[in-house]
Amino acid sequence: MRESPHEAVSRPPVRVRKPAELRAVRRRRAHRCWGHLTVAPLWPQHGANLGTLLRTCDATGACLAVPRHPWVPEALERGNTLPVRSCVHWVHGPETWLERRRATGWRVLGVELAEGATRLADLPMARVPTVAVLGHERTGIPPETLDLLDEVVEIPMIGSGASLNVAVAGSLVLYRLAGLM
Ligand SMILES: C[S@@+](CC[C@H](N)C(=O)[O-])C[C@H]1O[C@@H](n2cnc3c(N)ncnc32)[C@H](O)[C@@H]1O
Repeated sequence: MRESPHEAVSRPPVRVRKPAELRAVRRRRAHRCWGHLTVAPLWPQHGANLGTLLRTCDATGACLAVPRHPWVPEALERGNTLPVRSCVHWVHGPETWLERRRATGWRVLGVELAEGATRLADLPMARVPTVAVLGHERTGIPPETLDLLDEVVEIPMIGSGASLNVAVAGSLVLYRLAGLM
């Protein structure tokens, strides 16, 4: 019988980190606006996705940019499962807001299933201030906004579903941009 390659590898036993150990290496307060990474679900439909993105913002040091629809502040309060909250920018008019970011040197990266897009694995860590724009849960990034994107990144999929959940897509892209994976 052939020896399994797994049996041949010797490694220390796995020890799951304890909550107190994790607390000791985490920031005690929410990060301030670092002006480096922002994730922008500019046409949100479901509050739960905003809460998930807020948690990823905390983990990656990013800010969240959202329109001030009447239901959004409450959705953020409810969705924030951490004792502190990450930096939130309120957007009045997605196109104007994106144009202003570009004018001040930000790179606008669309996260979308699009022809000619960069594959997630080829997306380098952000070297300039970058905003990652997420589309509407059903209809994606509106056509009139596509001209404002400097680049588009797509997360490859091999399943039967047409697309990923928007908060999952945004979280994967933030991790790449932050250089954490
Ligand atoms: C459910 S998708 C909408 C997909 C599609 N554009 C449409 O019109 O049906 C919502 C958003 O999630 C993000 N998204 C989901 N899956 C993605 C993927 N595989 N690659 C890149 N972005 C994705 C995009 O921002 C997209 O606009």
